[in-house]
Amino acid sequence: MNVLEYVENKQDENLRELMEFLRIPSVSTNSDHKKDIERAANWVADKLRAAGMDKVEIIPTKMHPMVYGESLQAPGKPTILFYGHYDVQPPEPLDLWTSPAFEPAVRDGNLYGRGTADDKGQVHIHIKAFEALKKVNGRLPINVKVIVEGEEEVGSESLWDFVVRNKERLRADALVVSDTSMLARGVPSITYGLRGLNYYQIEITGPAQDLHSGVFGGAVPNPITILCELVAKLHDKNFRVTVPHFYDDVAKLSPRERKALNSLPWKEKEFRRTVGAPGLCGEKGYAIVERLWCRPTLEMNGIWGGYTAEGSKTVIPSKAYAKLSTRLVPNQEPDKISKLVEKHIRKLLPKSVTCQFEVLSTGKPWVAPYHDPIFQKAIHALQQGFGKKAVFIREGGSIPFVTQMHDTFKVPCVLLGFGLPDENAHAPDEHIALENYFGGIKSVCLFYQSLAEK
Ligand code: BES
Ligand code: MN
Ligand code: MN
Repeated sequence: MNVLEYVENKQDENLRELMEFLRIPSVSTNSDHKKDIERAANWVADKLRAAGMDKVEIIPTKMHPMVYGESLQAPGKPTILFYGHYDVQPPEPLDLWTSPAFEPAVRDGNLYGRGTADDKGQVHIHIKAFEALKKVNGRLPINVKVIVEGEEEVGSESLWDFVVRNKERLRADALVVSDTSMLARGVPSITYGLRGLNYYQIEITGPAQDLHSGVFGGAVPNPITILCELVAKLHDKNFRVTVPHFYDDVAKLSPRERKALNSLPWKEKEFRRTVGAPGLCGEKGYAIVERLWCRPTLEMNGIWGGYTAEGSKTVIPSKAYAKLSTRLVPNQEPDKISKLVEKHIRKLLPKSVTCQFEVLSTGKPWVAPYHDPIFQKAIHALQQGFGKKAVFIREGGSIPFVTQMHDTFKVPCVLLGFGLPDENAHAPDEHIALENYFGGIKSVCLFYQSLAEK
């Protein structure tokens, strides 16, 4: 039996096993889920063992444990490091899920549940590919190191420490990651660029305590109004970020890359349908894919303060808050951008309030050439596995580990994405298309097999 026949026969069993993984609510941002995080780490370790990894370890960290596994039984063959994450985003708002977030369900050719696409389903694709290759051939065709972490959705803090302390152990000829999407259904894709992410929180304080809005209103600063004025000034009418020098270091797209990105089979109509807003907006002078993948942005992620419960309360709040973030592109420097953003915000605020500005996390952008022969092998494997033409894309999301690895080891990073733009990652009704889950396992088997060939 060849490996494709093997995985074909295992489809039902694999799907059932993935559903078991998805039932563990391993939400990393919420300490109530500590036990679930541990269960998920153990689950991954067990499955790596079952897939034939020789050494599997659970590595405790300051926050959430990491799972490391390796199989180094292919002397003379390349070594890859596979990276993924077992942690997931919180499921809220719960009432917007058609079926509960942690009770995976199949509907219309999709598997629904938190983590299906981001990233448990995609991690499982690789675990099942390793297992199939091992079962069919008696051993893996290449050397494999695997790292599956539990802090990706909260910034991968412990991971960086681990990489620095374990450089030798992690060294590989290439990094393989599946934590991205395909350009569209039926268009298998390799991602060669991600944006970086800086995340900030601000606290605006006006009066020393909440005040009666009748007694004081009209003569005192209202921090919510001031925060809103500030937010309104962060973009100009062309949707450019107003922070001075924000664009200074942004790499210009070459005409060649611009042409390549704009000729991809990307459909604006589909994008509009996925977004579901009455209209779109964005930086003047750039196509939508350029805005999403190649241009930096500033986004408000949350804003709160004052009275928000039932009915009315006449109050001038003492404080107002906001969470915001900037997506970064080459060659913007995260630390430099944080300072520019803080300076601009402080300058825009009136003297009647004070502001606490906090940088919650920073992360560099990543873009890399794809001329290493490994990319041709990856394209070929995807095309065989899906029976469709594969393409190279960039994406707007961020994966801190990819940048760190690329900077540290200077090796090719092959991002094989099996999600879809409308997969609802981080949102209710997250799902993965079954054709991508099964096609992913096949492609990944073919890819790893091809790495053993000249
Ligand atoms: N898998 C995503 C990143 C992603 C999504 C890349 C889609 C490309 C396309 C990852 O789990 C994620 O959500 N990353 C966060 C950053 C992190 C530091 C919280 C993000 O991009 O917001
Ligand atoms: Mn992810
Ligand atoms: Mn995510």
